[in-house]
This record gives sequence, C-alpha cells and structure tokens, in this order.
Amino acid sequence: MRYPSRSGLRLGALLFFVLLICGSVTGAVASPGNGQTDESTAVQASFPRAAHPSNTQLASPEIERRVQALLEKMTLAEKIGQLMQYNDQGSSAPTAADADSAIAVNPETRDHVDAYELAKKGELGSMLNVIGAEKTRRFQEAAMHSRLGIPILFGADVIHGYRTIYPVPLGLSASWDPQLVQELSRMSATEATTAGVKWFYSPMVDISRDARWGRSTEGAGEDAYLGSAMARAYIHGYQGDDLSRPDSVAASVKHFAAYGAAEAGREYNTTDMSDIRLRQVYLPPYKAAVEAGAATMMSSFNALNGVPATADPYLMDEILRREWGFNGFVVSDYTAVMELTHHGIALDAATATRKALEAGVEVDMMSHYYDTQIPKLLDNHQMPMSVVDEAVRRVLRVKFALGLFEHPYARGDEVVRAVDAHRPLVRRAAEESFVLLKNGGDDGAALLPFASSVKKVALIGPLADSAGEMQGAWGGAQHQPDVVTVRNGLAARLEKNGGELLYAKGTDIDGSSTDGFAEAKRMAAQADVVVMALGESASMSGEAGSRAHLDLPGNQQQLLQEITATGKPVVLLVFSGRPLVLDWASQHVPAIMEVWFPGTEAGSAIAATLFGDVSPSGKLTMSFPRAVGQEPLYYNQFPTGRPAGDADLGKPPEGSTRFISRYIDVPNDALYPFGHGLSYTTFAYSGVSLSRAKLPLSEANQSGANQLVKVTATVKNTGKREGTEVVQAYVRNLGASVEQPVRSLKGFQRVTLKPGESRQVSFELGIPELSFYNSHSRQVIESTHYTVWVGGSSLATEHVDFDVTP
Ligand code: BGC
Repeated sequence: MRYPSRSGLRLGALLFFVLLICGSVTGAVASPGNGQTDESTAVQASFPRAAHPSNTQLASPEIERRVQALLEKMTLAEKIGQLMQYNDQGSSAPTAADADSAIAVNPETRDHVDAYELAKKGELGSMLNVIGAEKTRRFQEAAMHSRLGIPILFGADVIHGYRTIYPVPLGLSASWDPQLVQELSRMSATEATTAGVKWFYSPMVDISRDARWGRSTEGAGEDAYLGSAMARAYIHGYQGDDLSRPDSVAASVKHFAAYGAAEAGREYNTTDMSDIRLRQVYLPPYKAAVEAGAATMMSSFNALNGVPATADPYLMDEILRREWGFNGFVVSDYTAVMELTHHGIALDAATATRKALEAGVEVDMMSHYYDTQIPKLLDNHQMPMSVVDEAVRRVLRVKFALGLFEHPYARGDEVVRAVDAHRPLVRRAAEESFVLLKNGGDDGAALLPFASSVKKVALIGPLADSAGEMQGAWGGAQHQPDVVTVRNGLAARLEKNGGELLYAKGTDIDGSSTDGFAEAKRMAAQADVVVMALGESASMSGEAGSRAHLDLPGNQQQLLQEITATGKPVVLLVFSGRPLVLDWASQHVPAIMEVWFPGTEAGSAIAATLFGDVSPSGKLTMSFPRAVGQEPLYYNQFPTGRPAGDADLGKPPEGSTRFISRYIDVPNDALYPFGHGLSYTTFAYSGVSLSRAKLPLSEANQSGANQLVKVTATVKNTGKREGTEVVQAYVRNLGASVEQPVRSLKGFQRVTLKPGESRQVSFELGIPELSFYNSHSRQVIESTHYTVWVGGSSLATEHVDFDVTP
C-alpha cells in the first residue's frame, strides 16, 4: 500500500485537529510553500493539510453532540444499516459478469433483500431512485417507527432536472453561465424535495477529453477551470447556504476520481496518469465542489494507477479528507464495492469490504457487502469497531444537517409534471446552450436567423418529432407529453409568421432503410429552407454509452447528403451528448447548430433561435474532432519537441513537414475548437493590457494571494444586433520546471452588448490562475514568463506578456 490505511491515519487526524485547535496549522489548502529549495520552486516536506473542515454545518458542535448521543444507543445491526443503500426492489443487482467470473462473488450477496423489512427494523440508511412521495413516505414511515426512528435518506439521479428538464450538463456548460446553473439546480431541488428526495447524485464533475466516452454528456467538458466554476454552481444551487432548508438537497459529487479519463473512451475502463495530470486537470472540479461545501461524494468505478478508486486511500483519505478537509461522507457507485473482486484486488467479499471501508467509502450502494461482511470482519478482528463508528458518524451528520430528523417526509404539494413557472428558465437554459458552429454557405452569406421572407420550412429528421429523445440521458422523472418537440415549436412559431411547416422523418436514428428519403426530398423541394434534426439518440451517450464511431448514426449522413444535394439551403441541428465528427457537414452544409439534448422546452428554444428572437451565445466546452483518431482531443495540450510550426497539416507530409508531431492524414487541430461558438452579431477585441509587467515571486507565493495581476481588454459588438459574447482569458507559462500546456483557460465572462457598444472586461490572476503542480506534486508559482490572451475562443490572438521575477 502506498499510503497508510485510513484506520492507521486516524491518530494522525486526531493530532491534526488538536493542532488546529491550538492554532498550529495555518496554511491555506494546497497553497504554495514559501521555502525555496529547488531553483525558484517552493517545495514542501509533506502534502499540505486542510486548515478547516470543508462544510461548517456538518462540523457544528450541536450536530456532533446529537450524533454521539445517538451512536451510543445503536446496535451493530443498526449501525451497519446506516451504511447500506438499496433501491425499492432491494435486489443486490449482481452484474452479468458474476455468473462466469473466475473470482466468484460471495454467494450470500446474491440474496434478494427486502428493503421494506430492513426499513422497519431500522437497518436501512439510504435508498436510491425511489420516485414519488407516496413511495418515499411508505419507507420513511417504516424507518421512523423503528426502535430509534432514524430517517432514511432518499437519493436520486436528478442530473439535469427532476420533472422540468433542462439541457444535459455538457450542453449546459456551453452556456458558460454558472449563475444559470445555480438557478436550475435550485429549481430541480425545489421540485424533487416535494417527493421526499433530499440527496442528488449530482454534479458529475469528471473532466472529459475523449468524445468516445458516453458520459461526457453528464459533465462540463474538457477544462478544469470551467469545470470548477460549474461544480461550485451546482453545489450552491442544490445545497444553498443551509442544508436544512425544506428545498435544499445534499449533493453527491461524482465520480471520484478521474473516471473521465477511461482509456480509449471505453466505459468503466482503467485510468493511468501522472500525479501532475491528476492534480492539474482532473481533481480541480472535485476540489472546487468540496470547497463549496459538498456534503457527499461518490467513488468511481475505475482503477486509477492500478488501484480501484473505491478502495483507494490515496484519493479518499490522503487527498479528499486530509488535504481538502472533507467532512461529509462517500457513497460507492452502484455495486462498486462488489466490483473490487472483479478488479482482482480482493479475493473475497470480506476483503473488498475492508478495503473500501478503510479507504473511506462509508456507504455501500447495492453491493450487499457491508451488511454481510462487516460482522465477520469485526468478529475476526480484521477491522476495529472504530472504523464502523466513524463511518456511521459521517452519515448521521449529513442527516442531522439536512433536518431529516425533524422533517423526514416530503413537504409541500408533490410536483408530478413539468412546472409551467419553471419553463422560462429551462427555455433560457436551452437557448444559452446552443452553439452555432457555422453560419454561411459558399457565398459567405449568413443563413441564420431566418429572414422574414422565409414562410415554408421543411423539417426533416428522426429527432424532429421525438419528445423522449429531447430529455437526454438522465431525463429525470420525465413525462413526455410535457415536452415541446422541434416540430411543435417550429409549427407554432411559423403560424405566428403566417408560414407553414412541412415535416418528414426521413429515417430512424440508427436505421438503414431509405424508404423515407423520397418523402423527405419531396418536402425539401417545396420549402424555402430545410431544417434537419439529426444526431444521436439520448441513450447513445450517458452511462455505458461509449462509441468508437463519432459520426451521425445509421444512414443519417446519407440522408443529409441527399437533401443537401437538392440545392435547398440547409440548417443542420445536431442532437448529441458529445462532440461528433462533422467534417463533411462543415464543408457542405451552410449552417450548423449543436443543440445537445435541450430538455422540456426544446422546440420553443430552437424555434426562437432559428428565427432570431434570441442570438446564440453558447461556446463549446469540448473540442469537436475532424476524425475519431484524434481522440482524446483537447485544447490545452502540452507542447512537443517537434511542434508543427507553420507547416500546412492539411497536406500530406513532404520533406521537412514529416518528422514533426502530426498525423499524415488529418490536421492536428479540432474542426471546432474549445471555446468556439458564433453569434448573429460579431465581436472584436482590442487593448489587451496588464496592471503590471513584473511580479516578484515572493509576492506571488503569499498564501491567499488572489489578485496579483489584472488583465484588461475591450470587447466591441461590431455587428448589427444585440448579442452576448463569452469573453475568455487564457494563460501560458514558459520556463517552468515542468512543461506547461500551450494555453489554459483562466477566466471568462458573459457580456451582452448592443450594436456598436464596447465594454472593458478584466480578469484577476492570482495563485489559482498562475500556479501549477511541480514534480513533487506541490502547487507552486515559479519565476517564469507568462502570456495572456483574451478573446472569443481558445484561438484568441490578442495577447500580452509579463514575468514573475526571482
Ligand atoms: C452511475 C452513477 C449513478 C448510480 C445510481 C451508477 O451506475 O455510475 O452515476 O448515480 O448508478 O443510479
């Protein structure tokens, strides 16, 4: 084991808190050290320690007193019950692999569990995905009438809405609007708490740089800085500033950690990376969520550097609890404790249980291991009772903080359908999520928004009239009749204009029949313009939705080509939970808009955008590749010793253009890069400047220095209509002890400008923006040279430079 086990660390943790009380531990979390022992690098002797617990509400002495009093009354079975989680079927849900697994899962875990009976005995701490106030009440009443009356915590996968559905998180991140994310999160908490759900398995903050990975749809994309901003927004929205509010829910930040780095984009696959990459790219959003007070975390399925995350003390004890001061609890992912045997690091259920618990997984989701194995481990003296007690304490703290003991049941009128009052917000979210990738044909003239002369629109494609697909991978407790389809939205908008909508499905999402092509072409022939609604089904992304091909599924590409060949102007709406390869479309289709899975108000938001009631403002948060072989593809790559320079990578290599870091058959860059997105107006940047050209290292290294250099730029609306631009600031750092990415996002702001209007925007750069991890895994600033760009995408050209001086 690389690090001492959690039980072994307990004494250390105690000492830490004693020191804390005595005022001896002061440094900020992961702040750079001050001693200069390695060139200009600050190196610390050990990992930094959190200065305080991450969630102050959970650390309240009053809660601690109540937890302790309750714990003293609990039997072993009641304690273990708090660490168990089942759904209402109570099945232990073994995976298909069990049947022929060489390493057999303990047969006793195959038993069906009667969740209701467990609740009655006070031996069921939490439940997952029990939907509806009536159902949660039945289980809760049973628990409340048990010996100690400890309430059940009901958790659910409310990920982009409960009944009123908003865009999938990847789409939502394209809004670059954390305030919007916070409002939506609160809205969904308001809805779900009326059904008794007080815990969301959200946000998923896994960084995803590989479009093949289906769960890209559930996160905020490829960038750590944006991902962190979004993570904070979700936590503030779900938990508010008081977990005990009737409409607050506890968040479960998932999947800890680095699940998004699955090799080859294949779901549940292993991950392997340097500590620098882990800390610089993958951990920041989880850390941001913990700092924002996240009450719980979910451990991930994958192994990281050879250790399954669900049994990894480095992740859950060293980093999460000791470095970040996390004082909530960790739940395993679905059967992840049992899967430790499949990973081959536990030969039996007891060992899997011990490893997970000691690493820091307090709650066993569906494995049926903790309840069957903990008693044996205690009897055999393979685990001390203190490990169980500590886990129970952590769970109870969250329940007390949520006010569950006082208010165990659903409150208010149950929300069972999409809420009309919530429609404007989810519609705005959809509008902000759309990314206009291209707008102009061979003649360069913009096709969107539609001119008022456009009266006949042909809507073609398998996503045009599908309510179910609009709701995306985790469409909550959806009710399809609530959804405005593209067909309905466009028909209503055209009726207002005195126009007409023609419709043909054309083909199925994954179909091979061309029977519908003729009808689609007939519709196109009669129309002024064609809108094609093509892409993936909702279930092609999300969990277990990895794809090796990233083109339009089925024969949709063929349909697109045949309709484009009619010569009618085509707008392609792309529905997908990930970046797709749109190479052909980018060359032949005049207008392309990525609309993800927009949610309940899909059709109204799309119609409003196509007709120019609103201008698109979304910007990509994942790079769109030219070919699948470029994956994983992300903008903030490291440099190489053989950069492509100004070689034309669009041409096959020849002479000096061969032995450079490149492909021989496709350019290196993204077809549509991170941060890209067009508007119906245009923006120009000028006057990028800095508050200072030199920053002394001694000043940069002061703990908590968050405003060291200010970068300012002017952005102007140079077009003819109002629009919103996402202004982005990128940083590069040259001359450090370890190489740094070619550029990294370090600031962004949404700015709405009238035609001709200018605005100065500024970004403060401090330790979070200027620091990086060195080869000792320390977060440092060194005396190096920085370049800062400000612009409308990761290709921003306006820049300015400064130095951190020794
Ligand atoms: C997923 C989690 C989800 C859990 C409960 C798992 O399979 O990976 O994201 O929260 O199931 O439904």
